[in-house]
Amino acid sequence: MAVIEGWLPPTRAHYDLVLRAWQFAFPPWLVRWYGMGKTSVASRFNIPGRVAWMTMEAPGFLTLLYLMNTMPAAHGVDDLPWQNRVLGGLFVIHYSYRAIMYPLLQPSMAPIHGLVWAAALCFQLLNATCLGAWLSAYGPVTADAWAAQSPLPQFALGMALFYVGLAGNFFHDEELREIRRRAAAKQQRRQQQQQGNNKQRTNGGGSGSSSSSKTAAAANINGKDAAAAANHYYEIPQAGLFRYMLYPHYFCEWAEWLGFLVAAGWTCAPAWAFLVNEVVSMLPRAVNGRRWYVERFGADKVGKRWAIIPGVL
Ligand SMILES: NC(=O)c1ccc[n+]([C@@H]2O[C@H](COP(=O)([O-])OP(=O)(O)OC[C@H]3O[C@@H](n4cnc5c(N)ncnc54)[C@H](OP(=O)(O)O)[C@@H]3O)[C@@H](O)[C@H]2O)c1
Repeated sequence: MAVIEGWLPPTRAHYDLVLRAWQFAFPPWLVRWYGMGKTSVASRFNIPGRVAWMTMEAPGFLTLLYLMNTMPAAHGVDDLPWQNRVLGGLFVIHYSYRAIMYPLLQPSMAPIHGLVWAAALCFQLLNATCLGAWLSAYGPVTADAWAAQSPLPQFALGMALFYVGLAGNFFHDEELREIRRRAAAKQQRRQQQQQGNNKQRTNGGGSGSSSSSKTAAAANINGKDAAAAANHYYEIPQAGLFRYMLYPHYFCEWAEWLGFLVAAGWTCAPAWAFLVNEVVSMLPRAVNGRRWYVERFGADKVGKRWAIIPGVL
């Protein structure tokens, strides 16, 4: 049973139409405002970070899985070649990290504005519809077609690049998590020390129970403020490629989807559209992000680090 008759799964004509629209979706160039992360704003349309990431990213891989489970039979494909399954698997591996593990692993996440959430959801649905339909029926679905589309050495090279990118993306995401973990641990130690000092003062006696409970209440408020500060704590990351650029996690994600394109073959239009849209949506964010680092920490501290492409930007 179709989720939306003719569209999900898409007919061939609708697939062509959606793919054409997806190939020309470049709105982020036009807008400098970006209501998430470092540049998030206070708004009643904000969605808590974890909930936003899970709900905007998960529909992508769920859509792809749905299409790959329903479309082949409907198009007379009894057994999808292994290449289709492997590529579908790579997509699911990446997005189950991004939609489930990533929000759970992050020590803290800034809220995301509803508009950014909606744009990311559209990105996911368009991308998964195009890639999923190509992998299920409208791309190569026989061994012979794959031999022409992407010979084995090319497929293996693409997969290797994908995994290097995935590992690099995780490693640099982890470095950012580590900064927040260190800040939270430092803040906890400070709070424990303060509680110890308060106890000593109270045991030293003389100040009376009302003033000691006031001290404890003040410490509690300070503790909450400090915990909130640790959640919004930023520093210049140093590990791995952060020495040379400020957004290596983005750069590595591009390597992943370039690897996917290499494996899928140079004529895979949905993989091209995905890569181009990733670059187009993340590049301005990285360039603006570098400006943010310079304003916050000063040009000296940022030094010669590039935003995202060493030697270029
Ligand atoms: N944004 C996009 O358009 C986009 C598109 C596709 C894929 N992705 C992928 O999604 C992942 C996250 O992207 P993002 O745009 O949210 O990246 P980001 O702005 O670098 O933030 C990543 C996480 O690290 C924290 N963080 C960032 N810089 C920090 C610093 N200097 N010190 C301490 N903590 C810091 C952020 O906290 P706060 O939330 O509190 O700022 C956030 O939780 C990346 O791996 C990226 O490749 C992003």
